[in-house]
Amino acid sequence: MIIGRNRIVWAALVLALAACSEPSEAPPAAAPGPLRFELASADPVQHGERLAKVLGCTGCHNDQLTRNDWSEPGYGTLWSANLTCSAGRWSDAELTQMIVAGERPDRPLMEMPSTLFSGLHPDDVAAVVAYLKAQAPIGPVHPEATIGPLLKKEIDAGEYRNSAQQVADQAGKAPPDLGPDHALARQIVGATCAECHGTDLRGKPSSDPEGNPRPDLRMVAAYAPADFTRLLRTGKAAGDREVGLMSKVARRRYANFTDAEVAAVRAYLAELARHDP
Ligand code: HEC
Ligand code: HEC
Repeated sequence: MIIGRNRIVWAALVLALAACSEPSEAPPAAAPGPLRFELASADPVQHGERLAKVLGCTGCHNDQLTRNDWSEPGYGTLWSANLTCSAGRWSDAELTQMIVAGERPDRPLMEMPSTLFSGLHPDDVAAVVAYLKAQAPIGPVHPEATIGPLLKKEIDAGEYRNSAQQVADQAGKAPPDLGPDHALARQIVGATCAECHGTDLRGKPSSDPEGNPRPDLRMVAAYAPADFTRLLRTGKAAGDREVGLMSKVARRRYANFTDAEVAAVRAYLAELARHDP
């Protein structure tokens, strides 16, 4: 009797163990990989040119991609790179690593927001690189960065985060996940709006003491679709208002979104407000 009972228990245990190691058991859901921006052009160079505008490369590196002076007294010399020259100096793989990881072969980069680009689809990054490689060099090369005494103090105190460290700090952080239907918009918003409105999109104060705060983007639920399109395409907010930095960034960058991308971003932000009012 007892033996029989034990045998049944044993048999059940073996079955349970077998079930655990059953190869047909469903694997844990794989994290969805990055998605691509819409291919408004099948030509990678043109696709890369559009993305360079949407992602703000042309803002910081200037419209000709030929650099801007970011130096500050006490902090040292820092120019956003002359990308027309960098394109000839570095291989595709090196450029990619600088864009998505903030690492130059010889040193980490400073103030290059690679953290925004580390989640992009590799083919989209490759298109941006193809666009850079298609540029004829327009000199001069940007001056090499230096570290001034104030910056050195911040670095020594562990307060300054270079681009590669920022990528590590931001790893795994992204705007809220609202399911596969909103995955592309979530990624687009993470590479664009999150920079100023915060990774959680709940708004934040301006980094400039004079600047207006960046509002919580759940407010977009109250925007009529046509008004939202107009804001992104022309910089004019609902009620025909000019809204400072937002108007500028819309005209420079978001006017280059496709209609489908604008609609996806709006649907995502409206769903965010419904999901988490
Ligand atoms: C917020 C401003 C900003 C934005 C946006 C930005 N960059 Fe940069 N980038 C910089 C700065 C500043 C440097 C110089 C960093 C240094 O020398 O340490 C830099 C450096 C680089 C470098 C290194 C080049 C070299 O030869 O050292 C590459 C490549 C680069 N950026 C590509 C891009 C691309 C592509 C985009 C858009 C996807 C982009 N950047 C967007 C500010 C920016
Ligand atoms: C470079 C910083 C920056 C980026 C990037 C940015 N915004 Fe803004 N945004 C702002 C600032 C600053 C304001 C507040 C403007 C003001 O009232 O002066 C603002 C305001 C807004 C408003 C409120 C407009 C109103 O009716 O008053 C909306 C909506 C908005 N942003 C949406 C977006 C979306 C969507 C994205 C990404 C596609 C985005 N923003 C990216 C800086 C930014």
